[in-house]
This record gives sequence, structure tokens and C-alpha cells, in this order.
Amino acid sequence: MTKTVRKAVFPVAGLGTRFLPATKANPKEMLPIVDKPLIQYGVEEAVAAGIEVMIFITGRNKTAISNHFDTAYELEMELEARHKDKLLQLVRDITPPQVSCVFIRQNMPLGLGHAVLCAEPVVGHEPFAVLLADDLIDDGERGCLTQMVDAFSRTGSSILGTEMVDPRETGSYGIVDTDGEGKLVEVKGIVEKPAPEDAPSNRGVVGRYILTSEIFHELAQTGRGAGGEIQLTDGIAHLMREEKVMAYAFEGKRYDCGSKLGYLKANVDYALKHDELAEEFLSWLESRF
Ligand code: G1P
Repeated sequence: MTKTVRKAVFPVAGLGTRFLPATKANPKEMLPIVDKPLIQYGVEEAVAAGIEVMIFITGRNKTAISNHFDTAYELEMELEARHKDKLLQLVRDITPPQVSCVFIRQNMPLGLGHAVLCAEPVVGHEPFAVLLADDLIDDGERGCLTQMVDAFSRTGSSILGTEMVDPRETGSYGIVDTDGEGKLVEVKGIVEKPAPEDAPSNRGVVGRYILTSEIFHELAQTGRGAGGEIQLTDGIAHLMREEKVMAYAFEGKRYDCGSKLGYLKANVDYALKHDELAEEFLSWLESRF
């Protein structure tokens, strides 16, 4: 089996109800962190990890995402005519030349596991990554997915990106039971969004996965679980009966941009390190307290 990860799946069909009314007509994945949409951060992380095929599992009202990763001829011509070279480059760099984008419609809102299963015809029989754009991971030097791709090239086993979450918040995550607390350890059990009293630990799965293609076989047989949806977590629990699954404690800071608070924190932190804004924003922020 190849240990090279070339493809990444981005489930982006969700309604984004937590951000209404902003997400009534616009995809939540297009909400900006300072000046760049959330989904672009995810794609950049995947590109840095060597991924060349981006597979978006989309739904209604999501055309802004495909437009974002397509060439915008009129805009480019306009920027060229006005000699806005820096902006032109910035727009052109959104999709590097080696990257292709594939869009698949998830025509039923059946959950994350179902979304991943929709990618099977394009992924085929090779390992692949899954990135949930809601989880923005600021990695400094080495991207979270880069770290996981490295770990996968050593183990060849499916890998889940994890971090310790507040024990009171286990109900928001897939929670793993692991063989010890190390950086890269085998998963012994996984459960979707358990109440704190039922959680096997507080090691939560965040939105980064590298999965072997055997997951498709498992997902195809996974019935509806928590919330009446086909859960990726349940598919992984089944996969564990067939092969090793590892938990990886990544290095980097995660922002839960699926929540308003996490989204605001990300905006503040990213503004504080933004080339053009950092200084002025900091002094404005300090003047408020
Ligand atoms: C999904 C997964 C969950 C995981 C989480 C990470 O939940 O179902 O297992 O821990 O993403 O962000 P969601 O946040 O989409 O409800």
C-alpha cells in the first residue's frame, strides 16, 4: 500500500446554522479570518503537506467555494490593467498550478461519515486526508497536516489529529481511548460526543484525519448514530476492528471557528500578527482596556 497522501477531502456541505444570519446565503467556510476565508487556510495547510487533489464535498448555496478556487478572469484583467501586481499575485496564488479541485455534491444531509463516503469515487484505493475547515490550526513552522503526513509515512496506519479538550466539553467531540498518553499512540476506542461522565478520556479528535481507503467499506455499512447522522467516528470505530488506528497529538494552536467565540479569538490573534495591521490593531486593542 502506498504511504503517500495525495488527496484531501473537505466536507463543506453543512448549513452553518451557528452563524446565521451571516450564513444564510454565504457558506460558513467563506467567513474570513481577517482577510482570508477559512477554507483557504485549510487548503493552504493541505498544499503545504504535499496534497495535490482537493476534493470538496459541497451542497446547495456553496458555489462561492468553487468560484474562490477557480480563475477569476475579469478580476485578474482589472487588477492587471490597474497595475495592482501584489493583489494580482495574491489572487493567482489561491490555487497553485499543481493543485486540482474536485467538487462533489452531497445531496442528502446525512452527516460527516456520509460526506466522506461521497469522496470514494475520486479517492479510490489510496490513503487520504480529511480536513474540517472549522478547525483552524495555527501551526507556526510545520503544518498540522504536514506533521500527520510524516507520521503516516512511518506507520501506514490511519491517524486522527487530537488534543486534550476541556473535560466538560467532551460532548462536542469524538473522544478517543488510547494506549497511553504519548504523542502517537494506538486508539483503543472512540465515541462520538459522549457526556463527560461517559467519556473514556478528554483526548478529543479535531478536524484532521488521515484515513486508509478501507474506511469507505466501513462507512458504507455504518448506520445512523449520534444526532441521527452517519458519523465518521462510528466508521472509524468499525475500522479499528480491522486495522490499527493511531491518535496523534499535533503541535499548534487550534481555533474552533465553528463557534462564534473561537472565530473571534482567531480573528484577534491573526490580526495581531498580520503584516499590515498588527501594530495599529494592538495599540487600538490596548487603548480599550
Ligand atoms: C465533527 C466530528 C467530531 C470531531 C469534530 C472536530 O463534529 O463529528 O468527532 O471531534 O468534528 O471538530 P462537528 O464539530 O462537525 O459537530
